[in-house]
Amino acid sequence: MMRISRVAWLLQVPLIAAFSTSYKAHYAKRVAIIGAGAGGSSTAYHLARYAAEAGISTNITVFERNTYVGGRTTTVQAWNDPLSPAMELGGAIFVEVNHIMMDAMQTFNLSAAGHDVLARLEMPDLGIWNGQEFVLVTKAGGTWWDTAKLLWRYGAAPLWTNRLMKSAVGKFLTMYDEPVFPWKSLSDAIERIGLLDVTGVTGEQYLKANGIGRRFADEVIQASTRVNYASNLAYIHGLETMVCMATSGATAVEGGNWQIFAHMLKSSRANVQLNTTINRISKRKDGSYQVTTSAGDTSVFDDVVLAGPLQYANLAMDPAPKHVPDEIPYTKLYTTLFSSPHRLSPEAFNLGSGAAVPQYVLTTLPLWEDSVDGVGSPGFYSISISDAGTNPHTSPRRFEYIYKIFSPSRVNATFLSHILGQKVSDEEAAHGDVDGTVSWIHHKIWYSYPREYPRVTFEELRLDDGLWYTSGIESFISTMETSALSGKNVARLMRDEWVSGRYKPEGWNQDPAYEVKQVQM
Ligand SMILES: *[C@@H]1O[C@H](CO)[C@@H](O)[C@H](O)[C@H]1NC(C)=O
Ligand SMILES: *[C@@H]1O[C@H](CO)[C@@H](O)[C@H](O)[C@H]1NC(C)=O
Ligand SMILES: *[C@@H]1O[C@H](CO)[C@@H](O)[C@H](O)[C@H]1NC(C)=O
Ligand SMILES: *[C@@H]1O[C@H](CO)[C@@H](O)[C@H](O)[C@H]1NC(C)=O
Repeated sequence: MMRISRVAWLLQVPLIAAFSTSYKAHYAKRVAIIGAGAGGSSTAYHLARYAAEAGISTNITVFERNTYVGGRTTTVQAWNDPLSPAMELGGAIFVEVNHIMMDAMQTFNLSAAGHDVLARLEMPDLGIWNGQEFVLVTKAGGTWWDTAKLLWRYGAAPLWTNRLMKSAVGKFLTMYDEPVFPWKSLSDAIERIGLLDVTGVTGEQYLKANGIGRRFADEVIQASTRVNYASNLAYIHGLETMVCMATSGATAVEGGNWQIFAHMLKSSRANVQLNTTINRISKRKDGSYQVTTSAGDTSVFDDVVLAGPLQYANLAMDPAPKHVPDEIPYTKLYTTLFSSPHRLSPEAFNLGSGAAVPQYVLTTLPLWEDSVDGVGSPGFYSISISDAGTNPHTSPRRFEYIYKIFSPSRVNATFLSHILGQKVSDEEAAHGDVDGTVSWIHHKIWYSYPREYPRVTFEELRLDDGLWYTSGIESFISTMETSALSGKNVARLMRDEWVSGRYKPEGWNQDPAYEVKQVQM
């Protein structure tokens, strides 16, 4: 078997089909994917396709410890009502250059979420708050006069930033195609495409070195790194900073972005085991892996893909793989969704009574706090109105706004009372009160993404023979798209190894009883 495939490789003739016919007759490649988020779902989807192209049959099992697919791409129903809008808690949007997400949305015939209600609210679009004042307020579809004011304030900085962003994104996009794709080492790929000097410095250093004015950086770009990655410019690398500025064609799937991953899994025909935690992965003498669930069930696989941050997987690996990913700091983020008939209080934002607070309140640091690592005096990263509509549970029914807050600590009654200018009780802040000031509230705490500190080396993708890791990409760029890209890359590397004839487990084509004996040895 091995010899045939080697020959095929050397001769560069299309023997893949010949190779695989006999291969298929005996055996399907058994693959375990641990994690059904963006990385794991994309691995399953692309692996099924790549393997099918090469005529290799697969038996893919996806283990997911949650009772839902999508991982950090997940929604909750507003007002806990199945007929009300699904609100994104994590990965909320993707953009035009996110080819995997965009293509999947089309392939699976998913529609884009509309924002008709919000368009009708006619409020100022976006404001950047520094804890004292709004340093910038924009209106959707602003006039020439709004543009002129921005030009006066920031000069050519927006234009230069846009060029810088396009150059970085252009380099990144070469990772999708040959000769860079598939890459065996993320560090090498990033060096090859010329992005190491962008990931190796802070956003602050990168912008300064490229002549972007301090004012635009502090007031606008930093507001974006704070809402997207809960980081100030001195604590996030240059590339992730540029990613924050790539917003063109932002979209979301009606009903929740997680549906893309659910469709990917369905299309892969993987066997998806929800509510199943993997506790142990043991390498067997023949090079295959025995995977053990927390309930004590075991099964054996040829390849295992770890598709989530290893440090939170609570997984014993025996023996330790050749490469063990480092433990890295992740951001502990509080995401709060709540509904209220009240708008944000203008007084809480030092505006005159009667003034409208913008729909998106982003934040930045005041000048005198410029070296703070953390939320600083604004106290939160962003507050936005994500949707609005009729609360089906109130009597009489009433129109309410649905807010989303990103903050470094739990949102409490004092804070809610302050921003709404209305008394909110502790009970309401914790659980909501159907006819109260806060009618519904959902608190979510998670490790949402790594702290994107500058770095020039990244985790290995191939931790050992037959053992793969998709999450190293998160410290390069943490988005749904890049996790999906990492899964696609791992799927391709795995398929290529199968085709080129990496080790074959002894007795790989024998009956299942053989495996049992191996385990017991
Ligand atoms: C696929 O693998 C799973 C897990 O090891 C196993 O339970 C199942 O029987 C396999 N299916 C086929 C068709 O071999
Ligand atoms: C796509 O969805 C729309 C409505 O959601 C439906 O009318 C259409 O037939 C679907 N197309 C395909 C190719 O499934
Ligand atoms: C998840 O599995 C546990 C047992 O491991 C069980 O007690 C629990 O009810 C399951 N949850 C759901 C939602 O299926
Ligand atoms: C409420 O939250 C604010 C920060 O938003 C914090 O300063 C305050 O100590 C909290 N109050 C209580 C009682 O926990």
